[in-house]
Amino acid sequence: MTFKAPPNLHIVDHPLVLHKLSLMRDKATPTAVFRQLLREISLLLGYEVSRDLPMTTMHIETPVAPMEAPVIKGKKLVIVSVLRAGNGLLEGMLDLIPSARVGHIGLYRDPKTLQPVQYYMKVPEDIAERRTIVVDPMLATGNSVAAAVSRLKEKGAKELRLVTLLAAPEGIARFHAEHPEVPIYTAALDSHLNEHGYIVPGLGDAGDRMFGTK
Ligand code: URA
Repeated sequence: MTFKAPPNLHIVDHPLVLHKLSLMRDKATPTAVFRQLLREISLLLGYEVSRDLPMTTMHIETPVAPMEAPVIKGKKLVIVSVLRAGNGLLEGMLDLIPSARVGHIGLYRDPKTLQPVQYYMKVPEDIAERRTIVVDPMLATGNSVAAAVSRLKEKGAKELRLVTLLAAPEGIARFHAEHPEVPIYTAALDSHLNEHGYIVPGLGDAGDRMFGTK
């Protein structure tokens, strides 16, 4: 496919991210190490996705002098995990932004229609008043996360961002076609999807690798 990266695709290719990601890709990496690396990378991705949070100042006194000190402005965050692999990114993000509220959304693919079907959703009632960061490590076909974002918009979510670990061009194109205004943050843009919908070279099934289910 011919693929043109959208302008709001952010590839976080920091050396620490790339190094940790390579260790995660290695099929010899054990579950516990994989999980720990994902947690570490999510801190670095969280750092980037929160880079442009609006700021204000608050008056404080240091031991030396009074000052107007910069702090993040009022509007708070909600982090929505797309089950189940999203939980691997969620934990590190919460280390970084402990006051964020958390939502969960679960979808499965109907084997007949191949369309995503929602089986679970719980998000903060005031989601419309918060910035929403959606976390899902693998942007493969893009179908389920595009559906998840549509459901969140129905709930009133407005300032949305998507954080993934790995993305395929097919997934980016699909997601961007439905949600062109939603910026995508990813550690790497891989080559393509294989016939089973896995990202190549990828890292395999993120859920299985982080939870040791296979
Ligand atoms: N989901 C995964 O966990 N891995 C892929 O490669 C694609 C989708």
